[in-house]
Amino acid sequence: MKKIIITGGAGFIGSHVVRRFVNTYPGYEIINLDKLTYAGNLANLRDVEDAPNYRFVKGDIVDAGFIAGLFSRENPDAVIHLAAESHVDRSISSPIDFVMTNVVGTVNLLNAARNQWKGDYDSKRFYHVSTDEVYGTLGEEGLFTEETAYDPHSPYSASKASSDHFVRAYHDTYGLNTVISNCSNNYGSYHFPEKLIPLAINNIKNNKAVPVYGKGENIRDWLWVEDHARAIDLLFHKANPGDTYNIGGHNEWKNIDLIRLLCRIMDKKLDREEGTSENLIAFVADRAGHDLRYAIDSGKLQRELGWTPSLQFEEGLEKTVDWYLSNEEWLQDVTSGNYQEYYRKQYEG
Ligand code: NAD
Ligand code: TYD
Repeated sequence: MKKIIITGGAGFIGSHVVRRFVNTYPGYEIINLDKLTYAGNLANLRDVEDAPNYRFVKGDIVDAGFIAGLFSRENPDAVIHLAAESHVDRSISSPIDFVMTNVVGTVNLLNAARNQWKGDYDSKRFYHVSTDEVYGTLGEEGLFTEETAYDPHSPYSASKASSDHFVRAYHDTYGLNTVISNCSNNYGSYHFPEKLIPLAINNIKNNKAVPVYGKGENIRDWLWVEDHARAIDLLFHKANPGDTYNIGGHNEWKNIDLIRLLCRIMDKKLDREEGTSENLIAFVADRAGHDLRYAIDSGKLQRELGWTPSLQFEEGLEKTVDWYLSNEEWLQDVTSGNYQEYYRKQYEG
């Protein structure tokens, strides 16, 4: 019996990781530790909330005393750490929240693991989920490998880079059994509509302008979220202590091309005349410090563990649109209240 604390399990990627572990490993006990910020939503886990091997604990990873108490009470065998402030635009307007959760919160978890597991690090595991944004930006050529030097530009990526360094330091200094993975942009169900794809789906559906930063020339490498969860599962079980893996979709899209593809899919799904949704595209002021291009070389994960993405992007995007169109209530819930205020500040000045 393995007891695993998954942090940030009520968020976008975390909910897919929790669902996968609860359903795949009935013999594991899964504890979802989440503060339920604006991005955390227990409705993301309705289908597993009554499973006998699942429990939710509400708590803040910034609260060191609470985290230490939780570790001593639960004595977990492993941590899969996803809790974070995750949106670049919010990090530009409020960097300190990112320092607190992403840096201080991660160090609190590392300290609790270190104290609780002292003398028995080998049989335990601290898995840290990170991003390709720590590597900074690429020009037209090249891919991020595990050897690429860190060069973060946004407060978000700087805070994630810092947390990665702390995780590595706890392995090198204290011998904690750590694993880090750095993944490219995810998309899929339960994605909070502040990020590009779900925001555009929601706006197109409501006939609202679709804001594209700058000229839409920036490139991201998109991966279906369930493929990310599958990679985390593999690495959690198979990676060597202290190791790092990149995870990516080999699926680069210029923002404007992605949005045009999405518009075509939405026209079809909503029975609109072709070209209707494209008229909603609005080029707006660029994001400060906007990284030009991210692209991941996930060759190490492919060679060593045989992982490859399972879905073609067009298919995945269509599945994602279908999910949003048939989960109207979820979308309504997450875009009411505070979201409206955020949207006004971010896009309407
Ligand atoms: P998300 O914003 O959807 O979810 C974050 C979750 O963390 C929420 O449930 C929130 O309530 C919780 N949380 C935030 N602060 C907390 C705190 N102080 N204590 C406890 N819980 C807290 O994020 P996501 O997109 O699912 O990303 C999850 C992880 O994956 C993050 O670490 C992120 O850096 C990383 N990542 C994301 C992407 C992506 O494309 N979204 C890509 C690569 C890596
Ligand atoms: P986002 O989904 O915020 O992810 P990240 O910044 O972590 O890559 O943004 C993806 C890309 O889309 C990025 O280049 C910024 C751009 N973008 C827009 O053009 N308009 C928007 O309204 C948003 C949220 C993002």
